[in-house]
Amino acid sequence: MALSRVEVSAAAGAYPVVIGDGALAALPALLAELAPAHERIVVSSPTVWRHQGRRIAHALGRMRTTPVLVPDGERSKTVRTVQRVYDALLAAKADRGAVLVACGGGVIGDLAGFAAATYMRGIRLVHVPTTVLAQVDSAIGGKVGVNHPLGKNLIGAFHPPRLVVADPSVLRTLGARECRAGLYEVVKYGAIASPALFATLASSIPQLLDRDVQALEAVIAESCRIKAWVVSADERESGPRRILNFGHTVGHALEAVTCYGRFRHGEAVAHGMLAAMRIGVAKGLTTARAARAVDELIMAMGTLPTISDLSAKAVVTAMGRDKKIVDGTLHFVVVTDIGTTAIVTDVREADVKIALRALGCRA
Ligand SMILES: NC(=O)c1ccc[n+]([C@@H]2O[C@H](COP(=O)([O-])OP(=O)(O)OC[C@H]3O[C@@H](n4cnc5c(N)ncnc54)[C@H](O)[C@@H]3O)[C@@H](O)[C@H]2O)c1
Ligand SMILES: [Zn+2]
Repeated sequence: MALSRVEVSAAAGAYPVVIGDGALAALPALLAELAPAHERIVVSSPTVWRHQGRRIAHALGRMRTTPVLVPDGERSKTVRTVQRVYDALLAAKADRGAVLVACGGGVIGDLAGFAAATYMRGIRLVHVPTTVLAQVDSAIGGKVGVNHPLGKNLIGAFHPPRLVVADPSVLRTLGARECRAGLYEVVKYGAIASPALFATLASSIPQLLDRDVQALEAVIAESCRIKAWVVSADERESGPRRILNFGHTVGHALEAVTCYGRFRHGEAVAHGMLAAMRIGVAKGLTTARAARAVDELIMAMGTLPTISDLSAKAVVTAMGRDKKIVDGTLHFVVVTDIGTTAIVTDVREADVKIALRALGCRA
């Protein structure tokens, strides 16, 4: 199948996202346009490299592919781990002409991207995302960063990549739960922007969960187009980019009240989307048909970790700490019909509590 190529515009320069089964094989030629082999540094994690290192190293051809391996997982997404990347860059005598190639999930992309943003005031970055979430979301848009003990992603920068290469065949080794968690973000793209994507998802769940490369490629390419289109229109998240937060206001709060230990991010977002649809219906903005469609799709994808032991009050309190609140006003994204959104600023705590209780939370 031919590779898809999506252009993302950014103030620092437009960049392509190359998507498809076989995209990895195109990596050497794409990289050759950026920098000679000796100026590339690969950053990955032991897990990713164990599963995909041979293929990535092969794709990178004859260059000396001794990757810098740093632990991934949310707990490693810290300035300490970034320091290890700096150490490796310095040891390799990387200069300002170096290109950092980040191979991994969102954690590696975010932290290696932050190292690239700050090393010698910024070197070029290439993303080779290896999870569904990273391919459809974190590798596109230029946000990089790490966590602080007081909160997620509090330290960061905008540092758009020069190139993103998303090959769905690397997802074959991804755990089933990771895969499904990433697919909830695809549900989000369908719900906010594309009835066609939503329908494709609904009709290919078994193949997607089975990590069928063709099925994944179809929904990943469309998700990348949507993310590319949104971030091109609003790089710094002052307006249109907010629609990407559909399901995230409640989702982030669920992650926070469970200390990031229960849900994969996408699973929390799935609960958040269910809540947002209920809130939309209660406010007379969302069609009952759309709410039912989102419910059915999410249910058909499998069981989510429970929320029945969580108190709606605690979740709402955690929502109040979300950094997406601007001047004290919560900009809440509702899907009015599949593919169409509205931003509302009059969602009250009580509205959210009612929706959470309807979904099974305690009072
Ligand atoms: N920058 C952004 O715009 C943005 C957007 C969304 C999320 N994020 C960030 O992304 C992170 C989550 O990313 P994630 O969901 O990809 O999780 P992750 O990076 O933690 O990866 C999940 C797990 O999958 C493993 N893995 C990765 N690729 C694999 C493969 N091909 N085969 C087998 N195992 C593989 C990893 O080792 C890890 O254990 C969060 O830190 C979040 O804040 C950033
Ligand atoms: Zn998300």
